[in-house]
Amino acid sequence: MSEEAPLFMGFKSGFRKNQASEDRVTISRGPFAGRTTQHVSRIRLNPQQWYEQDTREQRVAKMFCPAHASEDRVEGAGENLGDSSGLEDCPAHTEEDARTEGLVGHSQKSARAREDDSPLILRRDFNSTDDDRAGLHFVSLQRSIEDFVATREAMNGGSVAEESAVGRQTNNGILQYMSVERRGNYLVPPRSARALPTPDGGA
Ligand code: HEM
Repeated sequence: MSEEAPLFMGFKSGFRKNQASEDRVTISRGPFAGRTTQHVSRIRLNPQQWYEQDTREQRVAKMFCPAHASEDRVEGAGENLGDSSGLEDCPAHTEEDARTEGLVGHSQKSARAREDDSPLILRRDFNSTDDDRAGLHFVSLQRSIEDFVATREAMNGGSVAEESAVGRQTNNGILQYMSVERRGNYLVPPRSARALPTPDGGA
């Protein structure tokens, strides 16, 4: 699939500046130095509800941030955004947006897990039609599975949900339109220790 292709929910994912670097996700010391961890979730999507229930403006707000919707920052699948989703101060406004807008965005919440302005995880998700159902194989690399857990907790927005019209699922990013069916966590050796060749056959 083309890297430019939008996900089933209509937007591009994986802007370069919204990803951890390979260095950031490589284990730096100890017996597993040079390796990384991989998290894989099989996620079921509900695109029908996503497209029928919400307006485009609501979808932009729920995927990115309410400011992206009110300032019309996203064209189409986000082609105009270049190499960054342009969150700026959206993450810092999450709780205020919950109170004043009654909804918070998926990217804005998830970005609260950043360290030194870098996301902790390197995402490699792609669409799936396995079993004739809309889905997403969510694949991420991170130095420690705890980095995935911290990011997923930020995405859950638990504390946000407690103090506003935002529910545990409703108006809480994209939580209402997705459900995780299975998860796995793996340790990935460096390429030099893997059995498979590189895509172009080199070492
Ligand atoms: C239904 C599944 C999902 C869809 C359709 C989806 C889609 C998106 C989109 C469109 C963006 C904004 C563009 C970008 O920065 O790449 C984004 C950002 C992000 N998503 Fe997801 N996502 C999904 C699930 C997840 C899951 C399970 C996690 C893990 C906790 C996650 C973590 C993130 C992170 C960390 C960001 C970037 C935040 C930052 O800029 O710091 N997403 N996602």
